[in-house]
Amino acid sequence: MANIILAIETSCDETSIAVFSDDNLLSLSTNTQIETFSKYGGVVPELSSRLHVDNLLYVYEAALKEADVSSKDIDYIAVTVGPGLKGSLLMGINFAKTLNMILNKTIIPINHLQAHIYSLLLDNVIKYPHLSLLVSGGHTDLVLLENELQFKSLGQTLDDAVGETYDKVARLLDLPYPGGPGIDKLAKTGQDTYNLPYPKNDLTLDFSFSGIKSAAYNLVNQKKMKNEIINKNNFAYSFQKRIITVLENKVELAKLKYQPQQISIVGGVSANSELRTTFLQNFSDVLIPRVEYSTDNAAMIGVLANQKIKNKKVNANLKINVFPDLKVENIV
Ligand code: KG4
Ligand code: ZN
Repeated sequence: MANIILAIETSCDETSIAVFSDDNLLSLSTNTQIETFSKYGGVVPELSSRLHVDNLLYVYEAALKEADVSSKDIDYIAVTVGPGLKGSLLMGINFAKTLNMILNKTIIPINHLQAHIYSLLLDNVIKYPHLSLLVSGGHTDLVLLENELQFKSLGQTLDDAVGETYDKVARLLDLPYPGGPGIDKLAKTGQDTYNLPYPKNDLTLDFSFSGIKSAAYNLVNQKKMKNEIINKNNFAYSFQKRIITVLENKVELAKLKYQPQQISIVGGVSANSELRTTFLQNFSDVLIPRVEYSTDNAAMIGVLANQKIKNKKVNANLKINVFPDLKVENIV
């Protein structure tokens, strides 16, 4: 009999539930809070938690219906336990625990960052050693997987994450939250005319984006004070070019040092069209999840849970807890 896995993701502003039958994704149901938070210019944690409560039951029912399974069929409940917003994570975890009080099955805690990497398995085969660039709203990590489910962080951001930097620079250009897609779109018809710095473009595997963010703020403010108009397309292009160049250079450095069989970009920023094109052109054997699996979703939670079951890495006696600051290499 196939294992039925129910997967729950609520770490930030998406309420998402997926149903798997072993390796097969049967359904994915997601309610995004993006529209609400675009009015606020960013996620309001307290409101996000309340929206998860409002939506979890509907999203759950829709996922079961689409998969054509009943709650009695569920064998495992996989749930994101971190990193993310504490209140939002707790809503998903409490939902999983409540459901499990009725069903009495096994809960599988999932590290959201590891799940972003395993989102690749939804469409591809992962080859090891594998080098993954994880770029999301909250994280920027270069990760080496020597083998299945073995995560080693090679470098990370010392300050802001890439997605966060996109969001802040987008706000400066009066674009809605989340800002990544807006900058992506503007940059398509822009040119490199603004002299922004290449952030931490050195020989280490760490990143830093606060410098380019401050430079962008200073440049825009100076122009505003002089009543000069910013060409948003060119600004977006100039900003994005520097970000992508540095990401590419760091991956090249890690590739030379660790000789992976395969490279990937995962996480919300991997939806960026120019980043995708650059990596596909300049590296061989690159995997990138399709756009709907790049940003937060429960399919990646379920696919990682299934790998953990197959590799007998599920600890049935574990106490399920919330870990807002979980790192990519942390086992849960
Ligand atoms: O992985 P994700 O959905 O949530 C986190 O775990 O953080 O990533 C969200 C981030 C946001 O900062 C958003 O602006 C960025 O991904 N993003 C993009 C694009 N689409 C989403 N950044 C650049 N270009 C895009 N097309
Ligand atoms: Zn994420």
